[in-house]
Amino acid sequence: MNKYFFVLGRNSTLSIAEIISVLNLRNIDFFPKYISSEVLIISTDKELKLDELIKTLGGTIKVGRIMDEVALEGSSMQFYEIFSADNLHKKYLSQMPGKLHFGVSLYNAGGSSEVLLQLEKRQKDIDLTIKDNLKKEGIKSGFVQIKDRFLSSVSVAKNKLITQGAEIVLILTPEEILIGKTLAVQEFEEFSLRDYFRPAKDKRSGIMPPKLARMMINLAAKDRNSLLLDPFCGSGTILQEAIFLGYKNICGSDISDRAISDTTKNIDWLYRNFPNLPKTSINLKILKMDVRQISTKLLPNTADVIVTEPYLGPPLYKKLELPAIVKILSELSRLYIDAFVQFAKILKSQGRVLIVFPVFETEGKVFFVEILDKLKNLGFVEKEFFPQNISKYPTVFFTPRKTILYYSREQFVKREIISFQKI
Ligand SMILES: C[S@@+](CC[C@H](N)C(=O)[O-])C[C@H]1O[C@@H](n2cnc3c(N)ncnc32)[C@H](O)[C@@H]1O
Repeated sequence: MNKYFFVLGRNSTLSIAEIISVLNLRNIDFFPKYISSEVLIISTDKELKLDELIKTLGGTIKVGRIMDEVALEGSSMQFYEIFSADNLHKKYLSQMPGKLHFGVSLYNAGGSSEVLLQLEKRQKDIDLTIKDNLKKEGIKSGFVQIKDRFLSSVSVAKNKLITQGAEIVLILTPEEILIGKTLAVQEFEEFSLRDYFRPAKDKRSGIMPPKLARMMINLAAKDRNSLLLDPFCGSGTILQEAIFLGYKNICGSDISDRAISDTTKNIDWLYRNFPNLPKTSINLKILKMDVRQISTKLLPNTADVIVTEPYLGPPLYKKLELPAIVKILSELSRLYIDAFVQFAKILKSQGRVLIVFPVFETEGKVFFVEILDKLKNLGFVEKEFFPQNISKYPTVFFTPRKTILYYSREQFVKREIISFQKI
């Protein structure tokens, strides 16, 4: 049995949902062994191609394999045996000429805070033990100093720990300490290039983080030959991530001239800056179009999946009062219902819609877009993100209607990620 760990991004619930969706799409049977807000550990009969997997996922920071396990009741000697030169060579550090570099990170997968603290205090000691053990074998090594419990993916990559050393990962669970080796880290440079350096951005109408766009596409769980549509494409973030994921048939549309021009500029920039993308084999259409008329441009039952962040209301610089929230929600509800009337026409049966709805808060109350019954009448059922055995974990966070929120503290509107299927 193979055991793998996934270090999760800042919205761990969404990250876990994405991993499950991607593994399911690949028909990989797995068992979730431990789930926390920091890591997911799974066991599976299959060998996972972690290099390829991390290039697909938007919400996973590092992936690796569990190499050793030590019960918490086990002796300290048993634990330190893991860091003997022999064991390190066999499982963690390949034989490489020159000085070896390593780092030790510590994550919590449901262990008690006291044991976590004890382990944290021992981290430097483990670094020194590894260095000493290797020195006795005549091997020079250096370790990466850490400020927190764990190294960032940037630090792992910049210190070449994947290719010329190792990041050894300790994961504390309620019963044992798992010890793993990181095998791949997220392509953080590519993501931030696309996030911060694409030429056209419209801050007023709102820009999605590319990682969120990536996760939403993956949550739709459709194969790469599907026709993917973003009918509120803005500056093209979702289209851009769909191109990266290898979708061959993509269509973006928006009501605004500026959005169409921004999307075109950004996609041109993308092809210039990422020359390995198979531009000629991608059928990409960008249309200026009100979503309420989209079925006049796309044939009935042709789209497989709609991934979109619609208009979420005017930009907000402070919390709104209740009457303003009620007014915005009523206007948006009308737009979204009109959009779903169109989606019902152009989507194939079993087609998916992954959409962001806004969530407002005032006076300690939370306000959702309340149109789920109406969407049901149009032929759309909600799809849950998790099977029962996973949704029971206390570190998996849902709204009362089993959707997932995505937000940062400074935002006055939260994003609700919601998934539908056309019956
Ligand atoms: C929140 S933005 C989308 C941002 C996009 N996800 C991105 O990352 O760039 C919403 C977009 O919906 C568009 N929009 C608003 N009403 C529309 C309508 N009736 N039909 C189509 N697009 C519309 C706006 O022009 C805007 O570009």
